[in-house]
Amino acid sequence: MEIRIERQLSGVAVSVADVIEGYVRSGAVTLGLATGSSPIPAYRELIRRHREEDLSFARARAFLLDEYVGLPRSHPQSYYSVIRSDFVSHVDLADSAVQSPSGDAVDAAAEAARYDAAIHAAGGVDVQILGIGSNGHIGFNEPGEPLDSRTHVGVLAERTRQDNARFFGSLEEVPSQCITQGLGTIREAHHLVLVATGARKADALAAALHGEVTPDCPASVLQLHANVTVIADEAAAAGLYGAEIRAGQTA
Ligand code: GLP
Repeated sequence: MEIRIERQLSGVAVSVADVIEGYVRSGAVTLGLATGSSPIPAYRELIRRHREEDLSFARARAFLLDEYVGLPRSHPQSYYSVIRSDFVSHVDLADSAVQSPSGDAVDAAAEAARYDAAIHAAGGVDVQILGIGSNGHIGFNEPGEPLDSRTHVGVLAERTRQDNARFFGSLEEVPSQCITQGLGTIREAHHLVLVATGARKADALAAALHGEVTPDCPASVLQLHANVTVIADEAAAAGLYGAEIRAGQTA
């Protein structure tokens, strides 16, 4: 596992964008995109490189990690909409090349299984961007989730609903269910890139990287993956400071 600790948020954005750019420039690539606030600076940096440095996503395709159940695609907070307004609509990544689970499918469990199979049929994800929830979730895999789960319908933890209420008008408007790639599905991506910023993530990040591998901390599955890059700012990395980890260095 490579851990990069950056002093500035801009450094986190550049570092994440560097990894993604390497894949995008290497040819036809399947990206795993995450929503949430953590990757947004990296998406902005990639958009800048697209506009100013000829970085083209024309040969890329993408799969989203998760989606709220009950929100139509047209809802501004559906992840279908969010990833388009934050990233996809600003680059030359074809809209039709970006897939996500349908949050308003009549049979959500069948939709989850269909989506899992679609990722597999596409040959899997080459590089997966991940955020981390303050409770250690990745995607929407909440504490207690089996470490080998497939894409499934899940129930959001109350803490997650509270964390995400800032994107909605009120807590009541935050859906209570999701479709999320499972931990087993996420682990099949060739390369996992976890982005963590802010003090609110420090405990979860320390538990994920230094704690026991356990369903109580879904992000601890990263320890079981052979190709992981963690990119964090100093605040999120506060619990990681050990003998060999210092800001501005990799460990
Ligand atoms: C959300 C998303 C995750 C995201 C995480 C952290 O609920 N489902 O994919 O990584 O929680 O979000 P943020 O980056 O906004 O802190």
